[in-house]
Order: sequence, then C-alpha cells, then structure tokens
Amino acid sequence: MIRISEDLKGMASHSIIEISKKAPADSLDLTVGEPDLPADPDVVEGIKMALSEGLTRYTADEGILELREHICEQIKAKYGLSYSPDEVLITPGGAGSFYAAMKAVTNPRERVALQSPWYPGHFRSLKVMGCEVIPLRSFEEGSPVRVSPEAVPRGVSAIALCSPHNPTGQVLSAEEMEALQRRALEEDAALVVDVTYEELTPTGKVFLPPSRENLLISGSFSKSLCITGLRVGYLAGPREAVEAAKKVQLAFGLCANSLGQRGVLEAYRKGMRRVPKVREEYLNRARRCQGILQEAGIKTFQPDGGFFLFPYVARRSRDVASRLAAEGIVTVPGYPFFGPDGEGHLRIALIRPLSELEPAVRRMAEVIRGL
Ligand SMILES: Cc1ncc(COP(=O)(O)O)c(C=O)c1O
Repeated sequence: MIRISEDLKGMASHSIIEISKKAPADSLDLTVGEPDLPADPDVVEGIKMALSEGLTRYTADEGILELREHICEQIKAKYGLSYSPDEVLITPGGAGSFYAAMKAVTNPRERVALQSPWYPGHFRSLKVMGCEVIPLRSFEEGSPVRVSPEAVPRGVSAIALCSPHNPTGQVLSAEEMEALQRRALEEDAALVVDVTYEELTPTGKVFLPPSRENLLISGSFSKSLCITGLRVGYLAGPREAVEAAKKVQLAFGLCANSLGQRGVLEAYRKGMRRVPKVREEYLNRARRCQGILQEAGIKTFQPDGGFFLFPYVARRSRDVASRLAAEGIVTVPGYPFFGPDGEGHLRIALIRPLSELEPAVRRMAEVIRGL
C-alpha cells in the first residue's frame, strides 16, 4: 500500500469548484470566485501575437522582464514602494505566488498567523507545507473587527493577510497594516499580503505597510483581467525572499504560462484600459445586492472590494446553503470552507449579471428570514 503524507491525511479534499460541479444545471451557481466577464481583449490580442511569435517555450524562470518592470512601476505608483525587476517573480497565479512565498519564509511545523475566516487556498497551502495555522480573526457576525497584533502569538514565522479579503470583502486599514508589520518585525517574521482583488476596489488600491523590510506582496491578474485559467500572478519582496521563492517555484512549476505572461504584458502596454469597467461592474453588483440583503434585515458588510458578499445568517451555514440549493441558488457555506470563524455565514460570489442576481438575492433574503 502507498503511504500518504501525514500532512495531507487530515485535510479536506473538497473544493469550491466541486460544489459548483454538483450544482444542478438549472440552478444559479454563485460559488466559484471567478469573474463571469470575458477575458480582457488586450490579453487575448497579446496571446494571438505570442502564438504567431512562437512564444510557447519556457520564459525566464522569474518571468518576462518587461512584465516585471511594469509591476514595479505599478507598485511604486500605488504605494510608493520601490522594487527592482529582480525583486519580482512572475508566478502561476496568485495561488502559485502565495505558496512560493510561504514556503520561502517558513519551515515545516512552524506557526503562521492567518487572517480568519480564511481563503481556503491559503489554509490548504500552509497545511501542505506542514505549518500550524493560528487564526487571526478579522470578521464577526457579518462585520469586520480590528485585527489585533496582540493576537499574534510569539514565535510565528509569518503573518498572512488578504486585502481585499476573500470571503469578507474587507480592506485592512493603514493602521492595522502598520501595527501588524511591527508585530511581525518583533518576531523576525514575514508579512505576506495577498492583494489578488486590489484592482476591484473604488481606488484600485489597498493599504500596505510602510516598510519593505519584511513585506511580501502576492498579486494576481486572474480577477482584474478575467483570466483565471491563464495562471499569471506575481510576488514582490526583498531580494533574498524572492530568490528563495524562485527556488520553490523551480521545484513545482518552473515558470508561469508564457502565453498568459505575454497577454498580461499586452494589457500593460495598452494601459490596462478595460480594468475600470470590470471594477465598476463588480462594485455596482456588490452595492445593489448588499442593499437588498441589508434592507431585508440580514447583517451584511458592504465590501470594500472584490466580488463576494458574506452575510451573517445566524445558523449552521451548511443547513442554510442546502436550503438555498433546494431553491436553485448555490452558495458556499462559511464553514467548513473558510474555517471555524466562517460559521454562520454564506459566501455569495457575484458572478452573474444583475438581472439574475437581484431576483436571486431577494429570494435568498426571503428564505433566510423564513428560517
Ligand atoms: C484571495 C485569493 N488569493 C489567491 C487566489 C488565487 O487566484 P489565482 O491563482 O487564480 O490568481 C484567489 C482565487 O480565488 C483568491 O481568492
């Protein structure tokens, strides 16, 4: 018999994509965090060019230089933090970036403080690498709570945050970021911030801590360019950490998809001109749907960014999700997917047009109130 890694044994093998696959064909599937808008046309154009240029080989391990230069410029313009292109690694999506970053700064059996409720991919990555996860609570009964640096125990090797947050939609404040960075520095720990949804905020940016010293920025083009399948993200941070992350990446994926990289480069060359439309569309959906739930008396935070609502349903989330699924509306229960702090909530991905979302959210509100 084959022996399976101890680190994987206790781990749930269900994924949100699996719930989606089981949804009846005539139901409204609001599960997977994947934009419904078409891929950014400039990316598509870039891929066509890449194919005619024969760009189907490995790129440099760290990714296409011009793409890394654009990312450095973008981080400088948004946050005033200076990185050189050799401090940026192009990765297979934000997922590849987070994994490489965390593996680079932790050892098996070390403790990592993870914002909670958590994005399941973060939790899974940390468990695969054998880390112990310490929940860092940032949301309670439908509302954000201040993330307290005092909740970070001694001896952690990293603090991992997500802003805007999946599933809650909250953006951590400048004060929270600064305090958590200070706390991480006290422990000689890394502060890893996942900014996958940063473009889907009103200003297109979030708050980052003031110093580059222990900061690792994990980003993605999946959502803002609507290209989840192309697998392009990035990691920016101090040279030695990014070099270490590159070693991890060399072990699991070599480099990011060459066509995807070329596509994203084309979108940068054209000034990321479609992104504001994507932003406006998802922010508008979030405002309208949150308004419906709020009016119905369901505690729901108006997201600072991203395309999720995470209402508090005050009951076992699996029961409520099953009840809604019986009505043809499929959502993700807050527990077990987003950890124990997700219990009592549902995640609704706003990945259908408002003409379908609004009646569905009204029906959801009726069902939840009737429970
Ligand atoms: C917070 C967060 N980070 C990272 C990812 C991974 O996305 P990708 O690997 O497609 O960039 C997701 C996907 O849903 C996410 O929600």
